[in-house]
Amino acid sequence: MIRIENVSKSFYKRDTAVDAVQNMNLTIERREIVAVIGPSGCGKSTLLNMIAGLYAPTRGRVVYKDAPVSGINTDVGYMTQKDSLLPWRSVRDNVAFPLELAGVAKAERSDRADQVIQHVGLRGFEERYPNELSGGMRKRACLGRMMLYGAETALLDEPFAALDAQLKLAMHDLMLRLASENDQTVVLVTHDLMEAVTLADRVLVCTRRPATIALEQRIDLERPRDVLNVRFSSAFKEHYDTLWERLRVEYSEDRV
Ligand SMILES: Nc1ncnc2c1ncn2[C@@H]1O[C@H](COP(=O)(O)OP(=O)(O)OP(=O)(O)O)[C@@H](O)[C@H]1O
Ligand SMILES: [Mg+2]
Repeated sequence: MIRIENVSKSFYKRDTAVDAVQNMNLTIERREIVAVIGPSGCGKSTLLNMIAGLYAPTRGRVVYKDAPVSGINTDVGYMTQKDSLLPWRSVRDNVAFPLELAGVAKAERSDRADQVIQHVGLRGFEERYPNELSGGMRKRACLGRMMLYGAETALLDEPFAALDAQLKLAMHDLMLRLASENDQTVVLVTHDLMEAVTLADRVLVCTRRPATIALEQRIDLERPRDVLNVRFSSAFKEHYDTLWERLRVEYSEDRV
């Protein structure tokens, strides 16, 4: 579905260059869920931006379904790290925005938006505006919008970061169900290793900046996964420990 071929990305400002991603190679299969984890500032969001077609790689190329990505890729739904709700629109109108762009009639898009809003636990807030919501509620509204968009590929940048433990589990379950029902391919950036192992078919550990892949671990836990209990299996623990061992090195090097 997605191929990252020898991709490097540097940002230039006057005479200085910041290398964010270096020589990355990666192939993501259709319907695969890939989690990307690594130290803050290492280049994870930059990688998603390139897959979405927002940034062009400095070297190498991103290929989506056999075509090089050269502009915004509309087959991809992207939930960015910074929430991008439109402040002048209610929760309902924000969530329904992709349907509006697609020309769906008002009554239908309101109905469908309200269903999703209920799924993400925001019932009663349909008429509220983004500045009336908490950080976690805004994240959930973005998640709802993303789900309603129903793109064949979802890029999620720390989508569950501001949520409490209970809500996180509910959202994990929802994400897995929707991804499976809609045959979605998912690339998920997270700082939560437990979350990565719970959700993903494959976890990629990135090095500190510039990001390269330090470790790639296939998570062969059976599906559908019980997001609450999967973490108690010994297979889970083995995956977790292996990944943590590598991640710890990246984190500690980061502090030298
Ligand atoms: N548009 C930009 N212009 C200049 N530098 C940028 C830009 N976007 C990212 N960078 C730089 O690239 C590096 C990687 O940033 P990126 O946002 O990809 O990190 P990240 O891994 O997503 O971090 P975090 O976990 O904190 O979100 C950083 O040093 C950042 O300053
Ligand atoms: Mg980021």
